[in-house]
Amino acid sequence: MTIFVTGGAGFIGSNFIFHMLDRHPEDRIVCLDKLTYAGNLSTLSSVMDNPNFRFVKLDICDREGVYRLFEEEHPDVVVNFAAESHVDRSIENPEIFLQTNILGTQVLMDACRKYGIQRFHQVSTDEVYGDLPLDRPDLFFTEETPIRTSSPYSASKASADLLVLAYHRTYGLPVTISRCSNNYGPYQFPEKLIPLMIANALNDKPLPVYGKGENVRDWLYVEDHCKAIDRILRKGRVGEVYNIGGHNEMRNIDIVRIICKALGKPESLITYVTDRKGHDMRYAIDPAKIHRELGWLPETPFADGIRKTIAWYLENRTWWETILSGEYRDYYEKMYGNR
Ligand code: NAD
Ligand code: DAU
Repeated sequence: MTIFVTGGAGFIGSNFIFHMLDRHPEDRIVCLDKLTYAGNLSTLSSVMDNPNFRFVKLDICDREGVYRLFEEEHPDVVVNFAAESHVDRSIENPEIFLQTNILGTQVLMDACRKYGIQRFHQVSTDEVYGDLPLDRPDLFFTEETPIRTSSPYSASKASADLLVLAYHRTYGLPVTISRCSNNYGPYQFPEKLIPLMIANALNDKPLPVYGKGENVRDWLYVEDHCKAIDRILRKGRVGEVYNIGGHNEMRNIDIVRIICKALGKPESLITYVTDRKGHDMRYAIDPAKIHRELGWLPETPFADGIRKTIAWYLENRTWWETILSGEYRDYYEKMYGNR
């Protein structure tokens, strides 16, 4: 099979490419990535010479370019990771989120219709369900939970999901959608909570916790997410949505304390800053459907995953220090300077 992986120079897409090349040497992977601020070609350096791998710098909104690549490569499967993915950036500038996350998805699906495809898989998020209250630990997101978005980011992802389901119903496009909870692991861009806190702690910089730090996220090690998508591609039912999550709910403040402890840094670095606008309180996935139908379960306990993640950031300082020395510095100053 030839599999197109869009957004493969980012965090989850790159981990997915490593997983697929390792587990399915019979498949060929073509990575399409625009290389935005979040895409990093150095992340893919270990697979660049693999004969089963090709990298193409391409914007998924570029219809001509996408069609040309379909004509050249005849993909059997498309897995769409490409997206603007950071909630805070979407609050500052929603437009690019609508372009890439909605219109880019449409271009890819139009190409799939035009050239034929076995499967189009949309990598979505639990954020499409909005949030849950902290005082109702009995509530979880199922695939039947109504869409109820909070941020421009989640609204753009939800719009794309609706479009994907519409292409299935209207044109019979063979689609699947996965909605995953918060990922962590190697190669995550240091604007997201866990890598940002690791990098700041290592540099003895303040650790900016939004609000009271009581917001809850359901953390999943990235490799477990990749395995779940792989399983959906091979065994998932066309037209279906699958929630992916780890039953690993944690408060932000507790994560930051764990990082301080693991790195031997004082909790006095923790600084409470102005809350995120529209900040979702709690995410919690019910992964019963993917377990029941596809036999998937998370394999990495949080204690192991966070230890591996911290070790990776310690061993790969050049990767994230290069990012911190570039244009990301201006973003950081803008977002956290007067917060
Ligand atoms: P990321 O920001 O690390 O990577 C996104 C990648 O997409 C980058 O390589 C970027 O260059 C590329 N890209 C952006 N716009 C593009 C365009 N127009 N054309 C081609 N490439 C483009 O994101 P991530 O955290 O790896 O998330 C990947 C996907 O998974 C996203 O769709 C996101 O919504 C979803 N998701 C993420 C999480 C999470 O916790 N990170 C959880 C659930 C779902
Ligand atoms: O749930 C899945 C989603 O998880 C994905 O769809 C998104 O692409 C991904 O970015 C992530 O969204 P979050 O907004 O939950 O992740 P983030 O790492 O930005 O923030 C996690 C929590 O930590 C959130 O409650 C906000 C808080 N936070 C974040 C940052 C960056 C802080 O307190 N301080 C910070 O500096």
